[in-house]
Amino acid sequence: MTVFSVNDIRKTFSNGEVEEEILKGVHLSLQEGELTALIGASGSGKSTLLTIAAGLQTATSGNILFDGRNLSTLSANKVRDVRATQFGFVFQFAHLVPFLTVEEQLLLMLDVAEVKQSKKERAANVQKLLQLVEMDHRKDAYPSTLSGGEKQRVAIARALIHKPKILFADEPTASLDSKKSKQIITLLHNLTKTLHFSTLIVTHDEEVLPFVDHVIKMQDGVILPTKDDMYTK
Ligand SMILES: Nc1ncnc2c1ncn2[C@@H]1O[C@H](COP(=O)(O)OP(=O)(O)OP(=O)(O)O)[C@@H](O)[C@H]1O
Ligand SMILES: [Mg+2]
Repeated sequence: MTVFSVNDIRKTFSNGEVEEEILKGVHLSLQEGELTALIGASGSGKSTLLTIAAGLQTATSGNILFDGRNLSTLSANKVRDVRATQFGFVFQFAHLVPFLTVEEQLLLMLDVAEVKQSKKERAANVQKLLQLVEMDHRKDAYPSTLSGGEKQRVAIARALIHKPKILFADEPTASLDSKKSKQIITLLHNLTKTLHFSTLIVTHDEEVLPFVDHVIKMQDGVILPTKDDMYTK
C-alpha cells in the first residue's frame, strides 16, 4: 500500500545570475513495510529530493502526499509538526549528543515529538527499541565509548522512538565497513517490516542493494526507469 508519494517535484536553485533545475519532475512512492533505496551519481539530486520529501526544504513545484494531505500546501508550522511526529531521520554520521547517555538520546526525541507517555511507559518504550537494535546493554553509555556501528544503531533507535510512519536515511552506511553496512541495512529492513513503517534510503553502496525491496536510480535530476528486480533478490 502506498503511504507516501512525491509527484512531479521540481527544484531550481539560483547561483547568482544562473538558474539551475536540480530536480526535473520527479515521482516516487513508498509502500508500507518496505524499504526503497535511491541511488545515483554524486550531484544527481538525491539529498535534495530526500530533504524536500521530508519537508526540510520546499520544492519549486510539485506535490508531496502523506496521510491524506498535500504537504506542499501546509504552513511551515504544520509541516514541522508532521516531521516531528511522523517522520524519522538517520544520516551518514549518527550525530548523537555527546553529553547524553544512549537512553537519554531517545528520551529527548520523545520530548521533541511531544509524545504523551508516563515515565514508566517511556522507559519501557526506550528499552524495547534498544533491544530491537541490540543496544540495550549500553543504555547508560556515552557516545564517545561506542563504535561507529553502535552509534548508528542508537541513531536508528532514536529515529524510531516516536513510532514514525516514514524513515528517511541519507547514506546511513557511508561511514561503515562492508560487513557493518550489510548488518545496518538488514536491521533497517527488518525494522521497516516488523514495525510497519516505510523507509527511503539514499545510498552509494551497491553492496547493500540485495537487502532492500526497491531500487530507484536518479540521474541529472530525473528518475531513470529501472527494472525493480535488477538489484534486489
Ligand atoms: N542550496 C543549494 N543551492 C544551490 N545548489 C544546490 C543547493 N543544494 C544542492 N545544490 C546542488 O544541487 C545538486 C544536487 O545536490 P544533492 O546534494 O542533491 O546531490 P546528491 O545526489 O545527494 O549528491 P551526493 O551523492 O554527492 O550526496 C548539486 O549540484 C548541488 O551543488
Ligand atoms: Mg547527497
